[in-house]
Amino acid sequence: MPSTTTYKDNAAIEFAATGNVVTSRAAAKRAAAGSTGRLILALDTSTDMLACALGRILPAPDGSWEMTLLACADHLCRRQANVELLPTVDRMLADAHVARADVDEVLVGTGPGSFTGVRIGVAAAKGVASALRVPLRAGSTLDATAWRAWLSGFRGLLGVVGDAMRREVYPGVYLLDDTGAHRDFSAETVLKAPQAADLWAARPDAAQLVLTGDGLAKHAAIYAERGLDRTLPQELWHPSGEGLLRAHAALLSQNAPAATSDLARNPQGDPALVLPLYTRLSDAEENERTRLGIAEPKTARTTGVDDALGDIHVQLRPMSVNDTPAAAALEREVFAGTGHNPWTAQMFADERDRPDSSWWVVHDQGKVVAFAGGAVVDGNLEILDVVCEPARRRAGLASRLLARVSYDAQMLGAHTSTLEVARDNEAARALYARLGYEEVGVRRNYYGQGHDALTCKATLPLSVDAGPREPEPRPVSRPWPQVRPSRSPQELEALAQAGELILAIESSCDETAMAVIDGAGHIVADVVSTQIDFHARFGGVVPEIASRKHTEAIVGVYQETMERAGHVLGLAGALDSSELAAVAVTQGPGLVGALVVGVAFAKGLAWAADKPLVCVNHLEGHLYANLLETPDLQPPFVASLLSGGHTMLVLVRDWGDYQVLGETLDDAVGEAFDKVAKALGLGYPGGPVISRLAKTGNPRAIDFPRAMLHSHDYRFSLSGLKTAVVTYIERENAAGRAINLPDLAASFEAAVIEVQVKKAATAVEEYGAQEFCAGGGVTANPELRQAFKDHFDRMGVRVTLPPLSACTDNAAMIALVARVKLDQGLTSPLTADADPNLELPSVLA
Ligand code: KG4
Ligand code: ZN
Repeated sequence: MPSTTTYKDNAAIEFAATGNVVTSRAAAKRAAAGSTGRLILALDTSTDMLACALGRILPAPDGSWEMTLLACADHLCRRQANVELLPTVDRMLADAHVARADVDEVLVGTGPGSFTGVRIGVAAAKGVASALRVPLRAGSTLDATAWRAWLSGFRGLLGVVGDAMRREVYPGVYLLDDTGAHRDFSAETVLKAPQAADLWAARPDAAQLVLTGDGLAKHAAIYAERGLDRTLPQELWHPSGEGLLRAHAALLSQNAPAATSDLARNPQGDPALVLPLYTRLSDAEENERTRLGIAEPKTARTTGVDDALGDIHVQLRPMSVNDTPAAAALEREVFAGTGHNPWTAQMFADERDRPDSSWWVVHDQGKVVAFAGGAVVDGNLEILDVVCEPARRRAGLASRLLARVSYDAQMLGAHTSTLEVARDNEAARALYARLGYEEVGVRRNYYGQGHDALTCKATLPLSVDAGPREPEPRPVSRPWPQVRPSRSPQELEALAQAGELILAIESSCDETAMAVIDGAGHIVADVVSTQIDFHARFGGVVPEIASRKHTEAIVGVYQETMERAGHVLGLAGALDSSELAAVAVTQGPGLVGALVVGVAFAKGLAWAADKPLVCVNHLEGHLYANLLETPDLQPPFVASLLSGGHTMLVLVRDWGDYQVLGETLDDAVGEAFDKVAKALGLGYPGGPVISRLAKTGNPRAIDFPRAMLHSHDYRFSLSGLKTAVVTYIERENAAGRAINLPDLAASFEAAVIEVQVKKAATAVEEYGAQEFCAGGGVTANPELRQAFKDHFDRMGVRVTLPPLSACTDNAAMIALVARVKLDQGLTSPLTADADPNLELPSVLA
């Protein structure tokens, strides 16, 4: 929206002389010695700039806040932020003679910028703030860029063009006068570069605009074509740590910070509530919207999930155009006889087509039973409609819908939400109040004569109580900042008894998990937050969604884990990071964007708590999970690793010394289960559904190929089997024959199991192993477990299979590896980074 504000006419690019940046050691010491004020560590890795600074803010007599820069370590570091961030912070603090425990607050740039870059800074900052138990503040990367221009002395109208990749930009206009950089836009958004340039070119004050921002590197010509050709020098195009600090001090100095500002939304600085500013949904979700906007034939299976087989009836999904007649019909039914004019199907179709809108439906057995939606305008989500079939009320559907709609809105840049509710609708008012909406105004006769509406407003995220059915990762708010506990003699004794405690963190795929292990190797806490619901509708794990969910869940999972550990150890309250001996984390293999979140958080935590970091191989974790079942398990032995990403036979020569005997040439076993389930419309993940179906089926009904059964090596191939199953389904469908799902599932499983058991047995024989183990999600399959047991029992070889809860991803298994590595002194430096292709370690080259 073009602004109508006009500013004083200063056509020339003005640079005032500024000498206010003091980084000398003496000055730093003087300022650090001051007993008042707050010491703030600021960092931003949203762009190619690793922005990092240390400042002290002091209240001035006039009520404003003054910021003194103590140190800064900004430097360009393309794609190396996770390697360089904590070493940089460490060096900067050492140079400034500041102890990490003296940091009073952490301030992080939350973008907009590169998604992964933003998450590295945010996750690391969450780790630091969690360990130090200090507030975590969030700042806009665009603000930090504008303030950098201000610090350089520029005054006038400034357009910040943030690089959003794929020919898009994050635009922001600021007026810079002697008092500071003032925003002339309401919320961060993402726009196509030409569209953003057109909007600015149409401003009445366009002639005064001077541009900056890293988006200019790609798009300067697009702006220049429209007459916007004046730019700041390139060395000012990125945010700076001092810019971030200045923006924060300016926000603090405002009498009433905007409702959408970090200070207003998260006054305590709870690190769980600090989220990246994405301004758009993941690609998978965007593509889904496009797909859902195209009318599909009535018979199309739009859910992708067979309710009865999936064992789930009520499901949520985004509203498709095919749902709009049903939504209109439901609305007519619900609003019959009220003053409300029901929307038509066309109105729903138009609303859901808006790019800034989000509409979700609840369906049951193919019927829409509830829906809700709204649109984001200037950083505020306006809820436009919430409708539920009368018979389905009080089942929590409306809150679940609003959780999804408001979550999408947050991803689109919304910080607040408003809605209207009829004054006489007590039930709805109570519901909205529970979600965090406050009644802030009245609209007289809004629903017809004598029927007032109340205007309600909430800050996001809404406080949705997901309940036990839905272990959704979401920020959990606890009182913050927390006071470090002082321990009683009994507690100190309990801690001494427990020995060296290690916190282990796992985030390689779609589970955010943490565990604490004691000195004797007992797991004292084990928490897993799964994201499966968020990936299910896409038929597999969507990497960008996984990375987002880890970033959201990580602080909540940390706090929960430390609380449970404290409880088990007999402490009053949670275990503290200072009471740990080390922080361990999965380094790889896995999804790089997901791993990065865990690694950045772990490093932030380890650095702030001044504890060693232990990096763990995820596959080694799956092998160690067997120790939970058989603590006296001793190498050498042979193990099968069977998960959604891996299929391999491993000779465990010793703990820490592995020889991969063979792997799959194409799909992993779990992937084959998932793809077959998807082809049958059974939803994700496929393994559990298929094994449930297989129970009642005949494994000899269909003869599927046993690929590489006689290949005389330990390699596997599963894509042929998957193709055979899909071809079978298509052939039966074409012939009009009904598919016997249990028989199909049992026959597929039998083909998988025969190859797995035979090759594992050959390996055990060839290497003369006395023991056999397995690991990975597929090891949860009951038929496979039984087949392994039967076969190896007959061979007189002891079989160990991890407990069901430890087959799929968890952090207890990571903690078991960390226990051994720490005892051997195998720690990692703060430069450690995620490695998506990490291989099992081997002593022999
Ligand atoms: O180890 P995991 O949790 O994650 C990865 O590291 O991949 O394994 C997940 C995989 C999924 O492909 C899922 O379909 C499969 O394990 N899975 C199963 C069963 N339960 C989970 N496969 C066969 N039978 C099961 N009961
Ligand atoms: Zn795994």
